Amino acid sequence: MRILVTGATGLIGTQLCRHLLSKGHSLHILTRTPWQTDDAQTKVFQWSPQNMQIDHRALVGVHAIINLAGAKINQRWTAKNKRSILKSRIQSTRLLFDAVKQTNQKPHLINASAIGIYPSDFQRQYTEADAVFSNDFDGEVVRQWEEEAKQFEKLFCKTTILRIGLVLSSKGGAFVPLSLPTRWGFGAWFGNGQQWQSWIHIDDLVGVIDYCLQNKMEGCINATAPNPVCQRDLIQTIAKKVGAPQFLPGIPKFLMSIALGEMHKLVYDSIYAKPERLLDSRFPYQFPEFSACVADLIATYK
Ligand SMILES: NC(=O)c1ccc[n+]([C@@H]2O[C@H](COP(=O)([O-])OP(=O)(O)OC[C@H]3O[C@@H](n4cnc5c(N)ncnc54)[C@H](OP(=O)(O)O)[C@@H]3O)[C@@H](O)[C@H]2O)c1
Repeated sequence: MRILVTGATGLIGTQLCRHLLSKGHSLHILTRTPWQTDDAQTKVFQWSPQNMQIDHRALVGVHAIINLAGAKINQRWTAKNKRSILKSRIQSTRLLFDAVKQTNQKPHLINASAIGIYPSDFQRQYTEADAVFSNDFDGEVVRQWEEEAKQFEKLFCKTTILRIGLVLSSKGGAFVPLSLPTRWGFGAWFGNGQQWQSWIHIDDLVGVIDYCLQNKMEGCINATAPNPVCQRDLIQTIAKKVGAPQFLPGIPKFLMSIALGEMHKLVYDSIYAKPERLLDSRFPYQFPEFSACVADLIATYK
């Protein structure tokens, strides 16, 4: 299959592209900053979602589009950064839509989204059937992003929206900043640590994307592991695995709101997103349990 990937240089995209190439697919990559590649199976094209510019050759003959591009959400939520977080996602997806519309192709779109679409709740377990949406900034960003992605259905393209949980990888993302202080004996959860964290090992996330491609799965899918953990268990499990003491109390919310501003909600929110559709279709998770996921990440951390 020829697959177009955006956000290919990011945490998820880098591992995804390696995986897709290993499965014999060829790749078209859309990036803001192109580079040369010797890999005969990879072609790199330039786009600028900010200026609504795209190299239309990137679309030629593609069977699927995996859209991961977007400015980092974990940057201070100033008015300027908020605009960039939202616009980078909406404009890039709209640019892809406009480009596909000009062709007679019907690629399968797999679009990233996030579990932040669900409102924070300490009790409730969300499945894909729940149509309740958070009014917070991050919830609003992903809600609008999903709306934009759903436009592809009007072009009769298969459309899959992955509501991704906290991606755990030894190469970057949240695991390294979460685990480093814990290794040194300074691990602490946020608040009372009772908030649910719906996580997924990066190998499983890459597997989910591949699975959705192969099985032509459509609609919204919670891309999370089947066993979310509360934050207290998350820190305590990491401490146990690295053999470090864990004695610090929870970090009070007001301290983090001073340090991070409005963005502090990302670490105090509680979202239990159950991957019902993946479980129903018997997706073969490699890391359904958090302790095995942590053991693997610690073993592969350089
Ligand atoms: N990692 C997680 O835990 C997680 C959880 C839920 C959802 N997600 C979503 O999944 C997607 C991929 O996640 P990731 O962790 O791999 O992200 P990432 O490492 O931040 O990479 C995102 C990619 O998007 C492109 N990008 C960055 N700023 C952009 C901008 N202003 N306009 C257009 N493109 C821009 C970049 O590609 P180029 O420089 O090549 O253009 C970058 O490599 C993101 O949209 C993220 O919101 C991630």
